[in-house]
Amino acid sequence: MEFLIITLLTFVYMVYYYYKKSFQYWEKKGVAQIKPSFPFGNIENPITSKGGTVMNLADLHQQFKANGEKIGGIYAGCSPMILIIDPEWLKLIVSKDFKYFNSHAAIFDEKVEPLEAHLFNLEGARWREMRVKVTPTFTSGKMKTMFNTLLECGVQLEEFIETSHKNKKDLDIKEILACFTTDVIGSCAFGLECNSFKNPKAEFRSYGRKLFESSLKFRIRNILTMISPSIVKSLKLHFTDKCSSKFFRAFIKDSFKYRKSKNVTRNDFMQLLINMENPIDELAAQGFFFFLAGFETASTTMSFCLYELAHHQNVQDKLRNEINEIIKKNDGKLSYHAMMEMKYMDQIINETLRMYPPIHTLPRLCTQNYTLPNGAIIEKGTPVFTSLLALQRDEDYFPEPNKFNPDRFSKKNKRHITPFTFLPFGEGPRICVGLRFGMMQTRVGLSLFLKNYKVAPHESTRYPMQFDNQSAILSPKGKIILKHEKLKFD
Ligand code: HEM
Repeated sequence: MEFLIITLLTFVYMVYYYYKKSFQYWEKKGVAQIKPSFPFGNIENPITSKGGTVMNLADLHQQFKANGEKIGGIYAGCSPMILIIDPEWLKLIVSKDFKYFNSHAAIFDEKVEPLEAHLFNLEGARWREMRVKVTPTFTSGKMKTMFNTLLECGVQLEEFIETSHKNKKDLDIKEILACFTTDVIGSCAFGLECNSFKNPKAEFRSYGRKLFESSLKFRIRNILTMISPSIVKSLKLHFTDKCSSKFFRAFIKDSFKYRKSKNVTRNDFMQLLINMENPIDELAAQGFFFFLAGFETASTTMSFCLYELAHHQNVQDKLRNEINEIIKKNDGKLSYHAMMEMKYMDQIINETLRMYPPIHTLPRLCTQNYTLPNGAIIEKGTPVFTSLLALQRDEDYFPEPNKFNPDRFSKKNKRHITPFTFLPFGEGPRICVGLRFGMMQTRVGLSLFLKNYKVAPHESTRYPMQFDNQSAILSPKGKIILKHEKLKFD
């Protein structure tokens, strides 16, 4: 018994000592830190946390900023990591000294889950090689050729809104737009009709929903990734839902074989990937990520946008006038060029992405020891994060940051925006490769939605927005329900 007590006390003391020592890491380096606590460090308890990682990192950012810090040292458990606060230092990390931070700090094992070896997760030479191959998929020329496919998917969106209007049904905005973007990416990536509107059990929509379903398991995995990547690796934990992975791998492999054997060529992402002649697992991983990145980011952007427009009727009217005037000037049609002329539309999308960046935290990993301008050294292997949500809502850069004001992005005003304070698509060599496609989807979806309909808040819609604390990307808590009214034009 005595032996047991001594062993236990020794163990407790060792854990205490280990934590105490670990929590001195940033102080010793002369980097400011906020008092961490046992056992999660500066990360909130994943089970009881109200705001989740999104708000946790945004809060820490604000605390360091209030203390006048350019960076802050934090601990996930006892693992040290950096939060970048100052935009000039952010520029060094993501752009100027990119070679020291060329990784997204992803933890994955492609032997366990081959679909996770996609561009976002790759690093070093393998990332660069894949980036060079994938980039031509998203040129403006390719976007033009895909524009009509988007409009075809838009017909079902318009029909759905029309039917809801006739049946006096309010709109579950996020679900409707996720159906639209699933159909778009299904078509543009794989040449497939997903039919998400007509068939509520459509496979692509169901698996897409599963992949982004918020869960405690996901959150614990997320926190474990920060605290101890080696545990995540040895337990073979992965982000991708098993059934969805099986479905996507089989689907991509079958289409690949079908196209090769029948000599079928199509004008879609899949064809461009096939032309690269990479091993099939690598191809499947890229196709899978286009699907993932393509439907959820754009559908949440449109949802947040319509939510704000429902609360700002004057902005909504002004945008509708722009859409309809441009369509009228273009013989009653929406064309790629006509859509690119919508300047107010872009101001509104930018303001939405400022307030609601879908990827709320920009990740990097330090891949070689790096000396900051103040002499502090970031050691190889240290994860480096930036809370885009906090940075883009900082009142020093965006006065009245919680006010939806698209005029910040007018031609006259946007010149005064401080560099590296607005970066919803990231920056530097790892900037979002699908930026043009994401913007195009958002412009088309909003144009089709708003040209004939006015949206307004439902009694159940709360303002300001509350976020889902368990979701991987910035998402509203619960549904966004909006009312809609059909407008009659002469
Ligand atoms: C509104 C829509 C979108 C937003 C806000 C968005 C945002 C982002 C952000 C913040 C990053 C990280 C950038 C960095 O680390 O500096 C990223 C990377 C990426 N995005 Fe997007 N994205 C969007 C749409 C898309 C679409 C439609 C696709 C593809 C079909 C896509 C594919 C990718 C890929 C492949 C990467 C990894 C790039 C790399 O690591 O080299 N994204 N995106």
